Formats: sequence, structure tokens, C-alpha cells
Amino acid sequence: MEKIRAAITGINAWVPEYKLTNQELSKMVDTSDEWIMQRVGIKERRILKGEGLGSSDLGEQAVRGLLLKTHTAPEDIDLLICATVTPDMAFPATANIISDKCGIKNAFSFDFNAACSGFLFALETGATFIEGGRYKKVIVVGTDKMSSITDYTDRTTCPLFGDAAGAVLLEPTTGEFGIIDHIFHTDGSGRKYLHLKAGGSVKPASYETIDAKEHFIYQEGQSVFKFAVSNMADVAVEIMERNNLKPNDIAWLVPHQANLRIIEATGRRMGLDPEKVMINIQNYGNTTTATIPLCIWEYEKKLKKGDILILAAFGGGFTWGAIYLKWAYDPQSDTL
Ligand code: UT7
Repeated sequence: MEKIRAAITGINAWVPEYKLTNQELSKMVDTSDEWIMQRVGIKERRILKGEGLGSSDLGEQAVRGLLLKTHTAPEDIDLLICATVTPDMAFPATANIISDKCGIKNAFSFDFNAACSGFLFALETGATFIEGGRYKKVIVVGTDKMSSITDYTDRTTCPLFGDAAGAVLLEPTTGEFGIIDHIFHTDGSGRKYLHLKAGGSVKPASYETIDAKEHFIYQEGQSVFKFAVSNMADVAVEIMERNNLKPNDIAWLVPHQANLRIIEATGRRMGLDPEKVMINIQNYGNTTTATIPLCIWEYEKKLKKGDILILAAFGGGFTWGAIYLKWAYDPQSDTL
């Protein structure tokens, strides 16, 4: 029997309208466009404004657009996985809320937390359901309202993050296309460098935790940078070697967008021409689980059926990994 693979058969992303520029940020904290561009490579990021809106609202827009674009009825979805570090609430799962808002009634759904590697880990998990043969249409969505956990008085973190969502439809294929290999890692000892101190079961919300600003991202940037730059490049090279891929075989590297210097270092280690590296950090910043689908969505028209893509990420946890896939459709075409 031919092996069933999971292929991405559609992609969509959504960003809120409001652009928080480096100029505006430099009025809020002691920073400058020059520092942010030199050290990180971000020009602006999108912020979801408005009372009562959360990650499910970003995700809803991405998923609604995906269903329309792929001519898929919401009732036909079997499973929806949502990767996020900013769930609407601790429970129920944001995946359930997105499904409800989008009319996805016949699926089961759950959330996935692997921080910036969340989309990759969720994508592979979704693929496994397809490969098992019982699931035909799986949506994987990465959505984060990072502005909800960002301290806009802390210049070391507030320039970095933005809000966005991206979603893909996975379907079975017996061709040579789809998700072919993955290498994933976690190292929980890295949690001390990047975490949210309060609001969980160890330290529930209190007046003290609010006063101490413990509901915002805590990051020791330099330490995270060192781990990110070596691990993301190592895992990307490892997946190339394991699959006997040479730089010329690869059409695109799709890296998590946390810092332009980390992205460029990964591309260099892989021996890729810079124009093969998808980059949109300048427009959106680090949108955590949304960076990878947001990037592929922006570059979608340049992709051709059979293109080899390497997706790579590093993030809080620590978590890191890479996926090797063969793109399954030509631009503008709807079918496999
Ligand atoms: O996606 C999850 C994984 N996260 C990452 O991959 C992030 C990894 N880390 C990074 O990308 C970088 O470490 C940062 C962008 C966060 C920081 O860049 P850096 O080159 O590591 O800067 P630094 O923390 O070493 O700070 C250098 C200087 C310091 O001043 P002194 O001590 O040298 O006087 C900081 O206080 O830059 C100062 N600084 C700033 N100056 C202007 C820190 N933030 C700012 C700022 N504007 N926004």
C-alpha cells in the first residue's frame, strides 16, 4: 500500500490593522529605530486593539479565510489544532473557541503549547492524524496576541513582539509531496531564560504578582540568543544531512522570525543563498506561533509544486526543531 502523507493544501494568515512603528515605540521607551533595526531587524509590528478581543479572534479570521480560499465547508473539518502561548483563557482551549466561531462542528480540537516552535510541533501532530488514515481534513492554526503579555515599559522586550495568526489545511496525498521528515527537541532547563512568571498554578494572579509585573514576558535575551542561533542552525543542518539534501535542492528556508541575525546565521550555516530565506520580521516582529504560516502565506505565490521547504524554529521551553516538506501545489491552483 502506498504511504499516505499529509500535505498542506491551503494557507492563510491574518494580522490586525494597527501598526506599532519603531518611531511610536521610541516615544514609549528609551529606544530607537536604529537600535531595533541593527539588533533585531524589526520596523513595525501589528497590535490587536479593542476590548474583549483575544487570540481566538485572530485565529478565527485566519481560519475563516482558509476555509473560503480552499472551498472547504466548516462541517468537513475533522480536527483543529491551535498552537498558542496566549490562549483566550486558561481553559477551555482556544482551539474550541475558534472552532465554535467558525462553525466547525464535526471536529475535535485542542491547544498546543510549544512556544515559538508551537506551529511546527502542531503541524507534525496534525500530519500524524492524517497519516494514520482516519482524518481527511485537519486545520493547524498558530495564533498569538503577544501584546497581551508584553510590558510596554520594558525596552528589552516590547520592540520584539507582535500579534498575528496563520493557518493551514492538511489533507492526505499518496504522491511524493507533503511533510516528509521532522526533528524536534525540548530542554525544559531552558525555562529559566524565557517564561511568564505568574498566572499559572505555581503563582496564581495576586496584587503582588501584578505589582511585580509578573504577567509579562520575562526574557534573558543574550542567553536565549546564544541557544537559538546554535540550535536552530544545528537542527536545520541535521535534517538536511539526514535526508541527503544539498543547498541547491532546497527552494526555501522558512525560519521562525525572532531576530534577523538568527535567521541569517541559520541560512548561512545551511549554505543557502540569502534569497532562498523567507523573511518578513521587519513588518510583523515575533508573532510566536504565527511567524511560520505568516511567512509562507506571504511567499505563497512564489512557491511551486515540488519545492523543498525546510521549516525551522527555536523558542521558549526551550523547544526547537525542523520540518522537511515538499510543497504540494502550484500558485493560484486549488488542487493537489
Ligand atoms: O522567539 C523566542 C526566542 N527568542 C529569541 O530568539 C530572542 C533572542 N534574543 C535576541 O534576539 C536578542 O538578545 C535581543 C534582541 C533580545 C537583544 O539584543 P542583544 O544584542 O542581545 O542586546 P543586549 O540584551 O545584549 O543589550 C545590549 C545593550 C544593553 O545596554 P548596555 O548594557 O550594553 O549598556 C541594553 O540595555 O542594548 C540595550 N538595550 C536597548 N537599547 C535600546 C536593550 N534593549 C534596548 C532597546 N533600545 N530596545
